[in-house]
Amino acid sequence: MQGKHILLGVTGGIAAYKSADLVRRLIEQGAEVQVVMTRGAQQFVTTTTFQALSGRPVRTDLWDSAAEAAMGHIELARWADLVLIAPASADFIARLAHGLADDLLSTLCLATAAPLAVVPAMNQQMWSHAATQANVAVLARRGVQLLGPAVGDQACGEIGPGRMLEPLQIVAQVAALLPERGPLQGRRVLVTAGPTRECIDPVRFVSNRSSGKMGFAVAQAMREAGAEVVLVTGPVCLETPPGVRRVDVESSEQMHTAVQHELPGTAIFVGTAAVADYRPLACAEQKIKKRSDSLTLEMTRTTDVLAQVSACPAASRPFVVGFAAETQEVEQHAREKLLAKNLDLIAANEVGHTKAFDADENSLLILWRGGRLELPRASKLSLARSLTRLIIERLLSQPLAVGASVAAPAPSAVAVPSAVAAPSAVAASSAVAAPARATVTARN
Ligand SMILES: Cc1cc2nc3c(=O)[nH]c(=O)nc-3n(C[C@H](O)[C@H](O)[C@H](O)COP(=O)(O)O)c2cc1C
Repeated sequence: MQGKHILLGVTGGIAAYKSADLVRRLIEQGAEVQVVMTRGAQQFVTTTTFQALSGRPVRTDLWDSAAEAAMGHIELARWADLVLIAPASADFIARLAHGLADDLLSTLCLATAAPLAVVPAMNQQMWSHAATQANVAVLARRGVQLLGPAVGDQACGEIGPGRMLEPLQIVAQVAALLPERGPLQGRRVLVTAGPTRECIDPVRFVSNRSSGKMGFAVAQAMREAGAEVVLVTGPVCLETPPGVRRVDVESSEQMHTAVQHELPGTAIFVGTAAVADYRPLACAEQKIKKRSDSLTLEMTRTTDVLAQVSACPAASRPFVVGFAAETQEVEQHAREKLLAKNLDLIAANEVGHTKAFDADENSLLILWRGGRLELPRASKLSLARSLTRLIIERLLSQPLAVGASVAAPAPSAVAVPSAVAAPSAVAASSAVAAPARATVTARN
């Protein structure tokens, strides 16, 4: 967090007093904190408290003639590396969801390009109210990070969800939203995750057992390595990793459209999604009634999202990583997929009968032209981190196809763990086709 600019928005909730401590904790981590308070917030804590703790005058007014002579609200919006709203009142969340700009803080939230994190704090009935839940869902869909709320005793004497997270918990999550300079800083990574649902009729679909856990872990690991990460996911029940922009889709067609939309400027594409290979030829308009003893569904091939990304023109083609979920002859099938789809890397795993799908642990066999690496059983996050380091190593060994404007990180910035970097861990495989690119690492 050293030197990062955090714009802390304080709104009118009883938890505003905790934000005074939050300012101290953020500053302890090396951040610069500029506090902006709503009128409601000033009913709970004075600007003097925040000014003394942050060492900066607190901003409260959109119509501050001194600051606005130089477009102060736009300057603040540009200054921020992160806008953090803590506590975020139900009222402020509603205003954010509707895009209002009727005071300084709400205007800043519209005017900034920085990530926005919201820490709700309110009475449990207010939090559970359908209006608040709908507003929160709108924010989540827009990529706003929601931190908390916690469940527990409330200032009003009730018990339930709505407590603001403690300052140290907020600091930990904010740190993840602002990764230190990593080897992928300045690079965009697109990850797909989860299953797709292919419509049979308005109430039925064909899907698969993918939980999305591996893809979410990859998105988190890439973010930790400093990348800007976009995660296109099918229907899953998982929390979005901090700092990751999530795009929810349902069908393979929607996933294809979302990937094509997000692809420009992408340096690395990791396709972990279990995209349906076939979908029903037609989706019945009305629920299919059980009128006969058997039912035949005619299926048709879906668009191959991974192959399409890999077939991009060289000038805009990202480094392409595929996943192969196989129930038998894992290595052979994965190698065939690597070559058939012209991937840069493939991570293969055995699935079925409680293996891999929906499990928290897995093992991976990673193949590329001229090499292979086995990652033994570990948590999916740990595997994702190892995979990320290997991708970085492979990426840096190739000419940059994407983002000529993006500076390649200094090799010294790349921390490759010995398990990945040690030549002994990478056994060249003669069964894999000869290197297709001129630039391969010496060990190949
Ligand atoms: C004593 C008191 C405590 C309040 N606590 C909260 C709270 O914890 N969370 C909340 O969302 N609103 C709370 N409110 C209501 C807000 O202060 C009110 O909706 C206000 O308009 C919020 O303004 P703001 O969002 O511009 O800061 C409280 C009001 C009072 C009078």
